[in-house]
Amino acid sequence: RPARLCVVGSLNADITVVADRFPAPGETVGGGPLTIVPGGKGANQAVAAARLGAEVFMIGLIGDDANGAMLRRTLRAEGVDDSGVALAGDVSSGSAVITVDPAGENTIVVSPGANGAVDAEAVRRHAAVIRASDCLCVGFEVPDSAVTEAARLAADAGVPVLLNPSPWRAVSPELIRLTDVLLVNEHELALLRAAHGVGGRLGPADGDDCVDGDAVADALAGCGIRAAVVTRGSRGCLVVERGRLVAEFPGADIVAVDSTGAGDAVTGAVATVLGEGGSLVDAARLAMGVAAASVTVAGAQASYPRRADLQAASLPSR
Ligand code: RIB
Ligand code: NA
Repeated sequence: RPARLCVVGSLNADITVVADRFPAPGETVGGGPLTIVPGGKGANQAVAAARLGAEVFMIGLIGDDANGAMLRRTLRAEGVDDSGVALAGDVSSGSAVITVDPAGENTIVVSPGANGAVDAEAVRRHAAVIRASDCLCVGFEVPDSAVTEAARLAADAGVPVLLNPSPWRAVSPELIRLTDVLLVNEHELALLRAAHGVGGRLGPADGDDCVDGDAVADALAGCGIRAAVVTRGSRGCLVVERGRLVAEFPGADIVAVDSTGAGDAVTGAVATVLGEGGSLVDAARLAMGVAAASVTVAGAQASYPRRADLQAASLPSR
């Protein structure tokens, strides 16, 4: 049967423009047409999972405005259950100001708006849904109180908790304990290690450069993380379980157009496969195929593939 997922997270209107290059501080550069499309890490995860066949329930807040209406409409069009997405009073929907360059890299500034008002009470209203889920996705575009309450409810009921600590802030000891699978990029892993005082070299550059998978596994264990998928941009990902490197997937050979939301697609895909009862390695394999497809198309949600579109042959082997 399809995985039943619950996502507690953000919904943003992505106000996006493609430019020939990113402006330097104080500089003005010309760009292409402005697009306003549905985004937000939570909503992106929800849509990515729904397109892969999961039944998704989303918990979050939008403003009573045009962007909020757009965000709700697109969730519904994707078959995501939006009955946990409420209207925040007196605050506008979240938005993200995004620039994309010709290499498909981006810069994002998020204005949380309604997302900043999601609290533990809003989460508790849907406790029954969380407890009945196969997997919970949480991320850091909503406040800690909401994230931690959702993780408590899930963990109590034996529901696996996936945490994407993005945009980065320190992860509390309680949330580390409640997290079953951490999804981080190299940069977030570096910040996590710094927060935990976990040193060691992860690669020649010893920075965000996760080249030595065994060292990455040791570092994660040192931070109290049981399992993780560490994404490495165009270089694929590492999969760690119980302090050991269990898989390493190479990056796909593709031309990137827009990497916005690729990490959210990874989270949604991993949650879907885990929710179906699959292994973390199988989950990461599908997630790499999903991420590769997504970066070849503009936008976040609009670029996520359906399961049928993913050729088994195009999925990376270990
Ligand atoms: O991860 C990509 C997302 O980050 C965008 O959709 C934007 O809304 C920001 O939340
Ligand atoms: Na994309």
